[in-house]
Amino acid sequence: MRYSIALIPGDGIGPEVLAPASAVLNAVGALFGHDFQYVELLAGGRALDETGEPLPPETLEAAKQCGAVLLGAVGGAKWDTLPGHLRPERALLGLRAGLGVFANLRPAALLPQLRAACPLKDEVLRAAHPEGKAAFDLLIVRELTGGIYFGEHGRSADGSAAFDIEAYSKEEIERVLRVAYRAAALRRKKVCVVDKANVLESSRLWREVSQEAAQAYQDIETSYLYVDNCAMQLIRAPGQFDVIVTSNLFGDILSDEASVLTGSIGMLASASLGAGARGLYEPIHGSAPDIAGKDRANPLGAILSAALMLRYSFGLEQEAAAVESAVHAVLDAGFRTQDIARRDGGASGESIVGAQAMGAAVLRALEARASRAGA
Ligand code: IPM
Ligand code: MG
Repeated sequence: MRYSIALIPGDGIGPEVLAPASAVLNAVGALFGHDFQYVELLAGGRALDETGEPLPPETLEAAKQCGAVLLGAVGGAKWDTLPGHLRPERALLGLRAGLGVFANLRPAALLPQLRAACPLKDEVLRAAHPEGKAAFDLLIVRELTGGIYFGEHGRSADGSAAFDIEAYSKEEIERVLRVAYRAAALRRKKVCVVDKANVLESSRLWREVSQEAAQAYQDIETSYLYVDNCAMQLIRAPGQFDVIVTSNLFGDILSDEASVLTGSIGMLASASLGAGARGLYEPIHGSAPDIAGKDRANPLGAILSAALMLRYSFGLEQEAAAVESAVHAVLDAGFRTQDIARRDGGASGESIVGAQAMGAAVLRALEARASRAGA
């Protein structure tokens, strides 16, 4: 079967993590007999330099014609002083809104191989884990096309005051809650709604709408936390969480916090989905200008994002699982990019590799697995 994929490498380490991710997709295509067709699109700082706009209209149009979009990262110091509408980040926001991908799935789990890279003590991890294990496996569902990111922004005439408006409609809240409940139904059947309903009116609407929605999902346990408490609970006892659903800004912040607990933000993948199957997939890390061009990035977040694409946009579950187990196999074999390496100077049997070698190791693991399966 033919699948069309838009690749947006973007800026900084974006191209360095997308190259191994597309190589992995090619290998999946060859091994499982799929025809992945790519179109490479410009967005972010590079697009700004080349076309004068962070998100050229042709990019959005072409992305809409594809079954899925895989993005590296956008942004960099070079463009940091530009006014809001010209910043590379606008490209991300424009793609999210333009593609209508209102639900952002950010899984964060502690893989046993990366236990040493997690800053929490065993007793903290065990505290509220259902089986008392030193582990956690949670999913943040972040609303992605509403709230303060897309509310009115402005300045007073003399520039000495500024505002950004947080606004949500009932429908925007309902549709992201549905995604969260459906995800929970396939997991451990717990949804925690995170808001700031003790202070914010928009959060009180979230609370009301979610209390109503909870009635329709009686087999799922619903709980509520204020965002400040949730930030604390995440580092006090992350094992208590299954699915966390929250607004755009709170989800942005909590997902960065959760990423540290998994060892590195470089590991984390995300899927952004709307009403249909088309999705936008991106590692949650940024463009990391400090390590760009040095072959030091961790490509696993991008590779795992490609796996999510196979699963959610193309329904290729077996293929997605093959990529994920190839990633686990390279971690088992001791391959580490510098962000997930132990700090004990190589005494641990780990090999520290760059993005290219990590990508190559995943390819080998994928092919080895396929030849075992075929044998
Ligand atoms: C993310 C990023 C973006 C966001 C930035 C780069 C606009 O932090 O995807 O989490 O805030 O959504
Ligand atoms: Mg963020």
